[in-house]
Amino acid sequence: MTTMTTTTTVLEAKDVTMRFGGLTAVRSVGLTVNSGEIVGLIGPNGAGKTTFFNCLTGLYVPTEGTVAYKGTVLPPKPHLVTSAGIARTFQNIRLFANMTVLENVLVGRHTRTKEGLWSALLRGPGFKKAEAASHERAMELLDFIGLAHKADHLARNLPYGEQRKLEIARALASEPGLLLLDEPTAGMNPQETRVTEELVLAIRDQGIAVLVIEHDMRFIFNLCDRVAVLVQGEKLVEGTSEVVQADERVIAAYLGTPFEGAPGDEEVAEVEAAEAAQETSAKTTPGTDTRTEDDQ
Ligand SMILES: Nc1ncnc2c1ncn2[C@@H]1O[C@H](COP(=O)(O)OP(=O)(O)OP(=O)(O)O)[C@@H](O)[C@H]1O
Ligand SMILES: [Mg+2]
Repeated sequence: MTTMTTTTTVLEAKDVTMRFGGLTAVRSVGLTVNSGEIVGLIGPNGAGKTTFFNCLTGLYVPTEGTVAYKGTVLPPKPHLVTSAGIARTFQNIRLFANMTVLENVLVGRHTRTKEGLWSALLRGPGFKKAEAASHERAMELLDFIGLAHKADHLARNLPYGEQRKLEIARALASEPGLLLLDEPTAGMNPQETRVTEELVLAIRDQGIAVLVIEHDMRFIFNLCDRVAVLVQGEKLVEGTSEVVQADERVIAAYLGTPFEGAPGDEEVAEVEAAEAAQETSAKTTPGTDTRTEDDQ
């Protein structure tokens, strides 16, 4: 018998396009995530990263393209995507603020509990058993993310960094095979960020593939097996951390440096020349200020 682990394709997004009226937020993006992988999705603000996540999870129905999980094309409906095995967290935290930490995780479990409505209403033995098992699993997850001691606290009373971790626990409660994280360290201090790094590695080690959006490049390049770069809705580059870090187009996209000879250079030079000329003529023709007192 061999102990070789085989890699399987967990997520396969093909040619995903999302248009909002005249704006194409995501343009023909393909992305694969394999079992055992942590894949990063980076790009400047407004590049289309969250929109792409929304297409993957059925929150948006993509204008074009398909999303498959473990070989099956998913219908674009959030609850069907979750029950298929994809869980996510949100860039803007979405917790039930007035529920406890534990209750928030229990909400995340509902797609995995088979007990139906009648069973819940009658609170029969089947329901009680399922409820006890859910409770146990939820506490296990809280322990995993380091929040078991706050199980009874209201979610709204948690510091921001802990709310982000609670979102991860709630996502894990649906027992996913793929976890999508949208800026998991936003608003965290450097120490919390390092702890979150360890958490993501531990999640991967439990056999859950991870696709993560982050602006913290150290986090991305420390963790990810592969990184894809979105710029203006299009995938610009994809590769290992080393390849992506060294790519001049990526550096340019982040720093806003125009590529050499890029269209637009001439226009910029023209505008600068015109501005300089205007400044000179203003200096040489005094008394041309036509503003009245009302304008000031
Ligand atoms: N529901 C919507 N309706 C119209 N336009 C939208 C909608 N959602 C996103 N957009 C637009 O799509 C573009 C991409 O936005 P998106 O939020 O996906 O970017 P992002 O890469 O996640 O940026 P950030 O790093 O700031 O979170 C933006 O121009 C945004 O205004
Ligand atoms: Mg976003």
